[in-house]
Amino acid sequence: MRSNYCGELNKKHINQTVEICGWVNRRRDHGGVIFLDIRDKRGIAQVVINPDNADFVIAETIRNEFVVNITGQVIPRAEGLANPKLASGEIEIVAKNINILNTSKPVPFQIDATDTSEEIRLKYRYLDLRNDVMQKRMRLRSKVTHFMREFMEKHDFLDIETPFLTKATPEGARDYLIPSRTHPGDFFALPQSPQLFKQLLMMSGFERYYQIVKCFRDEDLRADRQPEFTQLDIETSFMHEDEIMAMMEEMVRGLFKDIINVDLGDQFPTITYANALSLYGVDRPDMRIPMQLTSIDELMQSVDFKVFSGPANSDDSRVAALCVPGGATISRKQIDKYTKYVSIYGAKGLAYIKLNEEGPASPILKFLGDEVTSKIIELTGAKTGDIIFFGADKTNIVNEALGNLREQLAKDLNLYESPWAAIWVVDFPMFEANDDGSLSAIHHPFTAPSVDADTLKDTAKTALSRAYDLVINGSEVGDGSIRIHQISMQKTVLKLLGISDEEAQDKFGFLLDALEYGCPPHGGMAFGLDRLVMIMTGCDSIRDVIAFPKTQTAACLLTNAPASVPRKVLRELSVQVSLAKKD
Ligand code: AMO
Ligand code: AMP
Repeated sequence: MRSNYCGELNKKHINQTVEICGWVNRRRDHGGVIFLDIRDKRGIAQVVINPDNADFVIAETIRNEFVVNITGQVIPRAEGLANPKLASGEIEIVAKNINILNTSKPVPFQIDATDTSEEIRLKYRYLDLRNDVMQKRMRLRSKVTHFMREFMEKHDFLDIETPFLTKATPEGARDYLIPSRTHPGDFFALPQSPQLFKQLLMMSGFERYYQIVKCFRDEDLRADRQPEFTQLDIETSFMHEDEIMAMMEEMVRGLFKDIINVDLGDQFPTITYANALSLYGVDRPDMRIPMQLTSIDELMQSVDFKVFSGPANSDDSRVAALCVPGGATISRKQIDKYTKYVSIYGAKGLAYIKLNEEGPASPILKFLGDEVTSKIIELTGAKTGDIIFFGADKTNIVNEALGNLREQLAKDLNLYESPWAAIWVVDFPMFEANDDGSLSAIHHPFTAPSVDADTLKDTAKTALSRAYDLVINGSEVGDGSIRIHQISMQKTVLKLLGISDEEAQDKFGFLLDALEYGCPPHGGMAFGLDRLVMIMTGCDSIRDVIAFPKTQTAACLLTNAPASVPRKVLRELSVQVSLAKKD
């Protein structure tokens, strides 16, 4: 049916008779001569149909998105009519025979339009995916998974599938549940990750496992989160964290070089969790941005400004400054916008000092005095033309507010030092304290601590774990850890998490049992494939790199899932729905 792809035709094919297949991207009728832009998976070629062609009458009926098969002769385009935007822009095809393989209703949007709403694009995703940009993203995604598989196979990892119909895996989100027909009243959970199964595979002696696998999490969605997403999931035995990190780094470095020709640097730097929070306010620092937070608690302890002296004298609070190079030109109105922005994170205000030619200017200078102001300028390294923003509140509020403000300012003022920056974040605490004093795992409950069980019990709130996160351009693209491989340590951690023996046995007794039958030391990692591809393609949302994504409310506009089911089906599943039907 086809001799050549449209996008691959060029001057070399002049005078050849070619047969192409594809969709009509656009049809233009130039009074007597019809032009068709034919699109296939490799690109577009222009076809000319002259009025003396026997198939001209067919061409007259053709509309956009019809599927056609055309035979014709390749000729050079007339002088001055070449289209430099098209690979085939120097030639066109003079049609001999035209076959309509299928018609199309008028499409709801022009395929290559850039202003179509996301709602419409998702409703007609199969049309949206015809768009050249989406085709390129899907192709790049496929190259990424191909590269990953090759790397893993080369390093002797085995691709092993793990179940989707399973039991809850604690990764911190809600589970998607599936009612069991054969066990009335019982439910499967879709896995939040294959965490427990991959650990079991280490206990089975496979030593190196990988899987490119869907994970399911019922959580609040954002631009970088989907209810079902894909991980490159990895586990190894008998490797230390530095060995695992080095191997994973090699994979990521190779991936960026091979697929998008980006050099991520020889060895990714490492930062501790504590330093990441203190210097960048977040545990996924965007290292393309040179700005850092400066702690000024000591300086503020005795100032006559309660907004600052209060937090400066309180253990769980912090006063920090963020110096923005060239920021003195930021208008009052814009500062008000940033003040509103930081309020999302709970900040009660956003004090600032502008370093104008005439000297420092700020409504808070009168509270600080000249000496403290000079010391702040010295500590932050601020220069004439800069602005210094301040955060004073509970430590986590200041960190989140200034950390996110730093990223927003970098976007608005283009303060990036380099286009790419990868960094490992290490030395995470094992636990975080909840408001009621109970503890939650910062990674998952199977992550090994850096200390022995007795020390862990004594220092639970501060003890560190053997976890590591990989962050690229401020996005957490992967994380992992060395796991607990001894039953006594696993029981200690579960106890500290407030999980009773009974509950532990009920939830993951199979893992606890397996730990007692010769479990090797092991550890691993999982990469968020969608996030990696999002970053590599420069997209703002992972929805743009997933063929059939869900909306922010976890719905599929294409299939209208989730949907109600007939009562009979519910009865078979022993499920009763108590909500009144919406319609
Ligand atoms: P974690 O929960 O951090 O770790 O997930 C690993 C990586 O998966 C990506 N990710 C997501 N991507 C899109 N949508 C989501 N809802 C979503 N949630 C996570 C992130 C993240 O870094 N079992 C552990 C890994 C391990 O310890 O080996 C785990 O799943 O890029
Ligand atoms: P006020 O005395 O409340 O008018 O605040 C004086 C300045 O400090 C204003 O610019 C406020 O935006 C700012 N401010 C108030 N609370 C905070 C805070 N918690 N952190 C940083 N700046 C603040």
